[in-house]
Amino acid sequence: IPVDPFDVVVFGATGDLSTRKILPALYRRFFAGQIPPEARIIGAARTELDAEGFRALTRTAIAEHVGAAKRDPEQIEAFLQCVDYVPVDATGTTGWQELKALIRPGVVNAFYFSVAPSLFGDLAERLHGHGITTDDSRIVVEKPFGRDLASARALNATLAAHFDEHQIYRIDHYLGKETVQNLMAVRFANILFEPLWNSQYVDHVQITVAETVGVGGRGSYYDRSGAMRDMVQNHMMQLLCLIAMEPPYHFDPDAVRDEKLKVIRALQPAAQSDIVRGQYLPVKGDPARRGYVEDVENPDSRSESYIALKVQIANWRWQGTPFYLRTGKRLRARTSEIAITFKQPPHSIFDEADDSWRENVLVIRLQPNEGMNLKVMIKEPGPGGMRLVQVPLDMSFAEALGEEGADIPDAYERLIMDVIRGNQTLFMRGDEVEAAWAWTDPIIAGWEARGDRPQPYDSGSSGPEDALMLMHRDGRRWREIR
Ligand code: BG6
Repeated sequence: IPVDPFDVVVFGATGDLSTRKILPALYRRFFAGQIPPEARIIGAARTELDAEGFRALTRTAIAEHVGAAKRDPEQIEAFLQCVDYVPVDATGTTGWQELKALIRPGVVNAFYFSVAPSLFGDLAERLHGHGITTDDSRIVVEKPFGRDLASARALNATLAAHFDEHQIYRIDHYLGKETVQNLMAVRFANILFEPLWNSQYVDHVQITVAETVGVGGRGSYYDRSGAMRDMVQNHMMQLLCLIAMEPPYHFDPDAVRDEKLKVIRALQPAAQSDIVRGQYLPVKGDPARRGYVEDVENPDSRSESYIALKVQIANWRWQGTPFYLRTGKRLRARTSEIAITFKQPPHSIFDEADDSWRENVLVIRLQPNEGMNLKVMIKEPGPGGMRLVQVPLDMSFAEALGEEGADIPDAYERLIMDVIRGNQTLFMRGDEVEAAWAWTDPIIAGWEARGDRPQPYDSGSSGPEDALMLMHRDGRRWREIR
């Protein structure tokens, strides 16, 4: 369904996120017919460019980041007609009047802050001060939203000085991923799972986000963050919330976010003995795959490129069911999944050797090959008596839904359109972000106070050895990363 015409201003328009994600996402929605030709996409950055120069840059971004099937020359030219540019100095006075002149009254407008968080305050103040924004304007802010509770609070306060909470869209791109939204559909649109979705029937949950890439050119940012700040405080926490939350009374922004907030507040402090951190080692003889400390150019770095942790949620539903989280770079495969392992039936009527008596496992694959897999026990075919075997009920969205399932939109496409439609359900509320930092801060403070060093792990492995122990000592096993 096409949206009404809108004006969107992308601050930091010439930067990496804008050219890699935001501009290609806007083009794809235009190609899909969702963005009307009357929409305006206004790039704003310090770079001295004219509109033609920015259109050329946008054309290159589309060529590099949009698949061939959607790169239709006519559509690209039509899209570029919507694109404009104005050089703006975020901390000065240049460009603001010109920007104001481009914003049409009576049309939905949104301002995407794709800039360093240190500039959020300057942008908010100037947009407001120059009378560019109204009570209906929306601002979109990227992660990292602070690096601890104090800085997140300060950021929230800065934005709140000029905008209401209903105008602020804090992006966590994991919430825009199709399968992540599917978590809510699976849980709340089926009767099948929810009655079993608690500590009486669920033995444990594993959430894995494994990457094969290293930190690449982002070393200086990454080394100040580590995997805890970069992935756990936001993306993994959001996944955990969607798995663990109570059913909201309606699929409505505040109803959903209220339930997520309750989960975060119920998280128990994680003991240091429940955490394993690692740093990847270089691949010998391969100068392109250096070790973590070489990548971040800090031989003494104590930041982690891998983290595994056991998390407990202290509430009625989850008391006694641990959630094991792990994420890391340079691992064996790029795979993100959530696995819910159910308890065994209370009694076996079959005379089976113990080891064939296995649990039901529901796996939700976030990427690649988005889909679901439910492991169930059946009888092994043949006359040899009642032998049990575990088989998968496997569904790939691409196969089940045909073309629609294969053409899964990028998270940014969904999220940007939600901003235009004014739907905050898939964006983090200020109190959620603060609660997540309030849980994360003491954990980080703990290892910093002791000066802990992450353990080295081989590139292309499943992470440090000790991470295996985290599960073994509970009589459980990580699923294979493959
Ligand atoms: C980003 C992190 O937020 O998410 C990166 O900063 C990480 O370090 C990325 O690589 C992973 O996102 P995706 O969509 O590729 O799983």
